[in-house]
Amino acid sequence: MGLKVDEGTIDKIRASVDIVDVIGEYVQLKKQGRNYFALCPFHSEKTPSFSVSPDKQIFHCFGCGVGGNVFTFIMEIEGISFPEAVRLLGEKAGIDVPLEGNQNSQTNDRLAILYHGMELLTKFYHKLLLDERYGKKALDYLRKRGFTGEAIRRFQIGYAVPSWEAATRFLERRNLPLPLFEQVGLLSKRQFDGKIFDRFRDRIMFPIRDAKGRTVAFAGRVLGDQKPKYLNTPESNIFHKGRILFGYDSARPAIKRKNEVVLFEGYADVIRAYQAGIDNGVASMGTSLTEDQARLLTRNAEKIIICYDSDEAGTNAAFRAAEMLKGFGRTIKIARMPAGLDPDDYITRYGGDRFRNDVIGASQTVMAFKMQYLKKGKNMNDEGDRLRYIEEVLREISTLNQAVERDHYLRQLADEFSLSLDALKQQQYQIYRRRKQKEEDSRHESRPIPYRNGQRHLLPAHLAAERQLLAHMMRDADIAAEVMNAIGASFHDDLHQALAAHLYAYYEEGRSPDVAAFIEKLEDPQLKQAATAIAMMEISEQASRQEIEDYIARILQYGTEADIQRKERERKEAEKRRDYETAAKILAEIIALKKR
Ligand code: CTP
Ligand code: MN
Repeated sequence: MGLKVDEGTIDKIRASVDIVDVIGEYVQLKKQGRNYFALCPFHSEKTPSFSVSPDKQIFHCFGCGVGGNVFTFIMEIEGISFPEAVRLLGEKAGIDVPLEGNQNSQTNDRLAILYHGMELLTKFYHKLLLDERYGKKALDYLRKRGFTGEAIRRFQIGYAVPSWEAATRFLERRNLPLPLFEQVGLLSKRQFDGKIFDRFRDRIMFPIRDAKGRTVAFAGRVLGDQKPKYLNTPESNIFHKGRILFGYDSARPAIKRKNEVVLFEGYADVIRAYQAGIDNGVASMGTSLTEDQARLLTRNAEKIIICYDSDEAGTNAAFRAAEMLKGFGRTIKIARMPAGLDPDDYITRYGGDRFRNDVIGASQTVMAFKMQYLKKGKNMNDEGDRLRYIEEVLREISTLNQAVERDHYLRQLADEFSLSLDALKQQQYQIYRRRKQKEEDSRHESRPIPYRNGQRHLLPAHLAAERQLLAHMMRDADIAAEVMNAIGASFHDDLHQALAAHLYAYYEEGRSPDVAAFIEKLEDPQLKQAATAIAMMEISEQASRQEIEDYIARILQYGTEADIQRKERERKEAEKRRDYETAAKILAEIIALKKR
């Protein structure tokens, strides 16, 4: 099953890409000693425990245990299969990846055709918009709303003419299979005779692209005020709305450069903001921010500015988005406009400079925003409402990690309501304690602890010795040979045993030490993680014979110790049964063991 890539190609690609460059495109890496560190893109954390080793060409997170080589990383972060990861990195390295296998290569071909067709349609609609004969009305409309030619080009905005067959015939002429495009919702099928026709007619077409810049969907907007305003291609195998941010592909360089991203609600906002100089803007496309989108946002930027419409719905959505982003360890800001305006309206009314300075530039902290937000629907002159408000704000304050920050808002609250700072502090602390207690209680039902490097000091000596040995074996074939002779597969921990066996087999093939290549061979993700954790351990560069022998001795000795204890128990059992013959035999065995 599946498609195969030949091993030579895999090796060649692994050798010609640098894991630091590849991962650096997704997270902000900081060098620290020999390794690079970052906030883990696979779980939310506040201090970096995700590390990348340029020497070993592997990555490992000490927090969640995930780890592997450059292919594993791409598979995890892009959510794609191994062959797809190989192909993607092959493209980067300029190495052709011939794919074998049939069933999957058919789906692969279908996908390729689909992407190809989507690209052709993007250009097709875009050309029609710019063509006087067909697109004048649409272009006039866009111009009237203030869209510039440059922005129209950057976002490849297009126009679907008022025809039932323009796109259908366009695809037909290029021999592209129409059912494929019906499936992704660009074409429709007439019930009674199965005839296929254009679903998008007389609409402005916004191509929606994935992170790689491939068009995966379209949104078609009417030219006037008719309803529905937008017709969208639905979810499909190439389009998962919750995993995509509109504009992300073209904004990515700016996001990385500025280390900041601005989150809008709609297409129009992103495009108008771009014209106002905000080239790091993306949109969640009118639905609530998903965890996948949050990950995308926080991956390349330290700061996220949420700039949603300043109406009731937009304010609520901004609040929820801020909540969603909370666990990602980033600075979150919220940009506000006068009530009822959206970014697009604001720019039309006050211009791009003021938008940049007074809206984006003046964005407030989430706490300040929440303090405003929580006032909604409450009457501050009513004592009950006021107390409720204060309690709610205190609850928010108690989630802040920094004392300085808490102090700042507590003072603000004290000033606003002429309250004693001490009393507020006390109440805040009580709320904090209560929540802590609750968390403590629920921790009892928590998940099993993943296999972590940081727990090495908690391991019994013989298991720690096994890990040390494995780490050396991964770096030195001679040590591996020595261990094979001395211990063979008799490691005490199952994972260690499996790793040792794989290592022996790896060297058996005549390969030289290369952790990244070795990991390739491990199919079980748990093994992969254990291998990377061990490979990332700080060990002596050049192990002395003595050191290795000590480890081996400790492992063998543990075996005997455990054996002796077991036999002692058996002997006592035998004596209890008054089976003195057996007891004597066991005693002899114990003495022999002890001599060893
Ligand atoms: N949206 C949608 N379908 C709708 C309405 C909205 O998919 N019927 C999504 C779109 O992604 C849209 C976003 O929600 O961009 C924000 O909605 P809205 O502010 O109404 O749209 P704008 O893009 O601002 O469009 P315009 O300014 O042209 O009205
Ligand atoms: Mn809008």
